[in-house]
Amino acid sequence: MSPAASVVERSVLEWLASVVGFPSGSKGILTGGGSLATLQALATALHDRVPGFHATGLQRDAAPLVVYTSVEAHRSVDKAAAILGIGLDNVRHIATDSLHRMDVSALRKAIAQDRADGLQPWCVVATCGTVSTGSVDPIDAIADLCAEQDLWLHVDGAYGALFLLSEQMRGLMGGCARADSITLDPHKLLFASLEAGCLLVRDGSKLRDAHAFDSSYLTIADDPLMTDYMDYGPQLSRNFKAFKVWSALQAFGVSAFREANERTLELARRLGAGITATPGLTLLAPVTLTAVCFQVDGASPEEHAKLLETLAAENVALLGPVVVAGKRGVRACVTNHRTSEADIDLILDRLRR
Ligand SMILES: Cc1ncc(COP(=O)(O)O)c(C=O)c1O
Repeated sequence: MSPAASVVERSVLEWLASVVGFPSGSKGILTGGGSLATLQALATALHDRVPGFHATGLQRDAAPLVVYTSVEAHRSVDKAAAILGIGLDNVRHIATDSLHRMDVSALRKAIAQDRADGLQPWCVVATCGTVSTGSVDPIDAIADLCAEQDLWLHVDGAYGALFLLSEQMRGLMGGCARADSITLDPHKLLFASLEAGCLLVRDGSKLRDAHAFDSSYLTIADDPLMTDYMDYGPQLSRNFKAFKVWSALQAFGVSAFREANERTLELARRLGAGITATPGLTLLAPVTLTAVCFQVDGASPEEHAKLLETLAAENVALLGPVVVAGKRGVRACVTNHRTSEADIDLILDRLRR
């Protein structure tokens, strides 16, 4: 019913797929955010891997399906598994290595253990940019294991995957192109106003098969130019999320977004270096993307909380709490394309005082 909106959405999705390196048969949909994209990805993976899923759902006599993610994964993975009826008992939170990335040998062991226990390993959710520290799971090695074990690989790239726009991140994140599905969040790294999330599925027919339903009142003639997004997600009536993404790309050009993302990465590194150089402050994790986690040596959790309040009350910066490997501290994340070196230096000066 909105052919122009459909064509614009398709063009945004095709561009996003090209950034990730997905093949031409991929399809996607813009969503209300990363959490909804991951929910829809897992629904698609269920439909793909569970025979007769639309007819019987999970109400059949079969071994429980198991989904694997890391201890650093966003809670939207747990939430999706719980909402879809997988059950939190069947979500394995795999340990991470010293750089907070999923430990692939621990993943392999967990899959073997579940098979030995008669369960059905089904899906792995790797993270490209964990919410706390910005670590990137070893997606290539995880993709190899998923291929070997015949598991669906979803990548939660809500925070990090659009850094693929930047050449310097290609080595770290290139494995995203091998996923069965990926979550992106234009309302993060493309600075779009809320809401603009995105799901891309490598084999677009699987996304459609999971979401398309016939009805007598919604029969629309096939048109090769038209994608009817009611067949690619749970919504029938939808707003025009693609417009703000498309018009920003038209107005500013892709290079503006690439440069803005690279600038936020540089600013995070500047903050990380400043913290490392300041006696009494300790980085809690390497600065991989734009999240910078640190602690004030010897400060209690209450003192860290007070520090956040003070920085906000003095209009210095809005930082958040974090726990990294059991250590409590502060998380700064550069999320605004207008943040400048002066803003970073203001934070460092205030922390030093
Ligand atoms: C790694 C990761 N996954 C998922 C989400 C959820 O995204 P949204 O808030 O768009 O639902 C976030 C958002 O903070 C995130 O950082």
